[in-house]
Amino acid sequence: MKAIILSGGKGTRLRPLTHTGAKQLVPVANKPILWYGIEAIVEAGITEIGIIISPETGEEVKAKTGDGSRFGASITYIRQDQPAGLAHAVKVAQPFLGQSPFVMYLGDNLVQSELTLFLEHFHSNNLDALTLLCPVENPSAFGVAEVDEKGRLLRLVEKPKVPPSNLALVGVYIFSNAIHNAIAAIQPSARGELEITDAIQTLIDQQKAVEARQIRGWWLDTGKKDDLLEANRVILDNCCLHPALNGEIDANSKIIGRVQVGTGTKVINSTIRGPVVIGDNCHIENCFVGPYTSIADDVTMIETDLEHSVLLQGAKVEGIHHRVVDSLIGQRAQLKEAPKRPKALRFMIGDDCQIELA
Ligand code: TTP
Repeated sequence: MKAIILSGGKGTRLRPLTHTGAKQLVPVANKPILWYGIEAIVEAGITEIGIIISPETGEEVKAKTGDGSRFGASITYIRQDQPAGLAHAVKVAQPFLGQSPFVMYLGDNLVQSELTLFLEHFHSNNLDALTLLCPVENPSAFGVAEVDEKGRLLRLVEKPKVPPSNLALVGVYIFSNAIHNAIAAIQPSARGELEITDAIQTLIDQQKAVEARQIRGWWLDTGKKDDLLEANRVILDNCCLHPALNGEIDANSKIIGRVQVGTGTKVINSTIRGPVVIGDNCHIENCFVGPYTSIADDVTMIETDLEHSVLLQGAKVEGIHHRVVDSLIGQRAQLKEAPKRPKALRFMIGDDCQIELA
């Protein structure tokens, strides 16, 4: 069994961060989203992993993630020259996959579920495809599945106006080598992509063994800002936060609840109310840092109240006299108090930014 993780794509919904970096490397609870997928795959016993990368962000993904030894896996990087669709990514991965069955994992998805159980079901029933499903409130925004009472997949529809069910396709699939012929048989969709849903529909039409199973835990697609903040909240709530105070915290500061502070970080005259994770070498002075906040390494925060937010490496937030909430602040971005005179707002804003002023 092998696995591929799709870490190319355009990332238009997460601009401007994706103008300069891979969306799969944006951290959730200070760990790149992509790494959660790698860990889930390794936990299921699969150690031969191919990661699909794009020409634009591939080198960054490679440099950050390495050869897999840190995860106990062997990672092969596979370049996809164009983001021509999920099924196209499988096509370019075919030399790596050979005839092996494989897991396909979308690199911007976070899934809480035991992959092992689904793999067992796939193997013991000799399936050609097993898709995972999750009930959602707004099925029209997703690929939606129609299943029979035995869990057989009858039909897949992309973003239907009238959804046949509330079961959305989660970004994790298990395939036999039959998927390659199905992909060879499909044409690009109206949006010009080779769609994995069309390939699975082809398997269904060919009477292959295609099933779907509902996951029991949560599933988060981190493609947009608010989804990413929600993922950060869920991860901080559920896992991965081992309270530890490794930095210097002065006597005037208060740490409440589950809080992790990295080495070399100074917390001065501030209140931090968990769950919060703060990386290494940060400077936090005269601040309130509220629940569900992740602060990456080398961040400076002075005279600021902030909660339910994600700050990326090297960001600086200083003297903001409003509470900052629900915010995603990019690497090295600066948010600071303006000079007193002339009283005015001053901006230098990159493409596709969103700013909401009170
Ligand atoms: P999507 O989020 O569906 O597509 P996208 O990355 O182009 O994003 P947006 O809609 O914001 O423009 O992709 C799901 C995952 O699959 C994501 O990790 C990117 C990856 N991907 C590829 O590796 N190759 C592709 O051709 C496509 C379409 C996506």
